Amino acid sequence: TPYNVVIIVGSLRKESFTLKVANALAKLAPDTLKPNVVTLNDISFFNQDLEASPPADWLAFREKLQKSNAVLFVTPEYNRSIPGVLKNAIDVGSRPYGKSSFLGKPVGIVSNSPGPLGGVSAAKHLQNILPGICGPILGQPETYLTGIGDAFDEKGELVKESLKPVLKQYIDAFAAFVDKQNR
Ligand code: FNR
Repeated sequence: TPYNVVIIVGSLRKESFTLKVANALAKLAPDTLKPNVVTLNDISFFNQDLEASPPADWLAFREKLQKSNAVLFVTPEYNRSIPGVLKNAIDVGSRPYGKSSFLGKPVGIVSNSPGPLGGVSAAKHLQNILPGICGPILGQPETYLTGIGDAFDEKGELVKESLKPVLKQYIDAFAAFVDKQNR
């Protein structure tokens, strides 16, 4: 049976390049993975006051993570870091203390930007945030996608040929990593 992989999309934007990258990775994934692209639109603000009786949207998100065998973060960069919505979702998933829903899950990180730096600072921030609450993070191939603005057509199909092998190489390496970590 394939490994369930939650692919977390770090942007809420309808025409988000990050969402399109996530969908492209899901499409290119080998059959050893069963990808589930998850957007964060429905996740309410984390507030410690609500922890005693958590909102249904937190519980639903945590359950999705708990049922997964791995988590892949696809993120844009906002002001040299990750968007607030993504940090909020990580905070929601990390609680209650000691019972992170990411616990033990192998993790992948792919950043992207229309600009020349590929969101590398956002990816680096994720590498700082995650180790205390999840399993091992795939180190290579490092994947920071630059110039993402012309990679997709109106239907969201990947049309930038040079990007296909990059995404394929990443998702194949991630699949091998997930297999190794779940054995
Ligand atoms: C940006 N953008 C941006 N890009 C980048 O490469 N480095 C950065 O630090 C920032 N900072 C930033 C802050 C804010 C508040 C916004 C709204 C945008 C540009 C960003 O890469 C661009 O808007 C992407 O299209 C966002 O990703 P999605 O929504 O297309 O997935």
